[in-house]
Amino acid sequence: MRKNIVAGNWKMNKDLLETKELLLGLKDKLSSFSNVEIIVAPTFTNLYMATEELKQSEIQVAAQNMHQTKSGAYTGEISAGMLKSIGVETVILGHSERRAHFGETDELLASKVNTALQNDMTVIFCFGEELQDRKENAHFAVVENQLKKGLFHIDEVNWKNVILAYEPVWAIGTGETASPEQAQEMHAFIRKTIAQAFGGTIADEVSILYGGSVKPGNAQEIFAKSDVDGGLIGGASLDAESFAAIANAI
Ligand code: 13P
Repeated sequence: MRKNIVAGNWKMNKDLLETKELLLGLKDKLSSFSNVEIIVAPTFTNLYMATEELKQSEIQVAAQNMHQTKSGAYTGEISAGMLKSIGVETVILGHSERRAHFGETDELLASKVNTALQNDMTVIFCFGEELQDRKENAHFAVVENQLKKGLFHIDEVNWKNVILAYEPVWAIGTGETASPEQAQEMHAFIRKTIAQAFGGTIADEVSILYGGSVKPGNAQEIFAKSDVDGGLIGGASLDAESFAAIANAI
């Protein structure tokens, strides 16, 4: 049985005190949940505090990025080993904002994926087409290409440490959500593409999250689709009440 997951990507929001307040709110509102895994991704400076704060909780902590090498002269970067040393076992890779604003290519992401998996970390691998791609009816080809170049080199055994997040760029932070049917159509395509390359069992087991303007008001109809296994939430994850409402929509 694949897992239902609701993850909050807090991006470059919330300072130390604000992060702590949000974590306390989430602990309070999500004290018991059984059918869903909850992950939060605060910014780097707040990760250690978050892992300490959530030690007795089932809420997991993820980083939003990491560097592909072990250590060295890479000013401003953070390694997998550093993350693991503070109890962070999960990392978001390939977010469209990393691809667009920081020039992260499929090749670079493939290398980051390798490093994360070699360090026994779980990867939340993000990908998704831009509006122009969809207008040109190229969205399936774009998504397939991102998946194949960034991820399809991994060994079969490593799929258990991979969570996918389909995030159409045109739906991120825009208030415009993919319809449940559009999400389902793409998620089914992604699962089929994985099945063709790695077999049906792996494809059935991998959780595919939808991301892009998920809110308490639309989460339930999106999550109800058979190939949508949860969400990667941006804006609506910055408030404990709305994130908890989304988690409860599973
Ligand atoms: P929004 O939920 O703010 O659209 O952001 C989605 C996202 O980018 C999650 O990674």
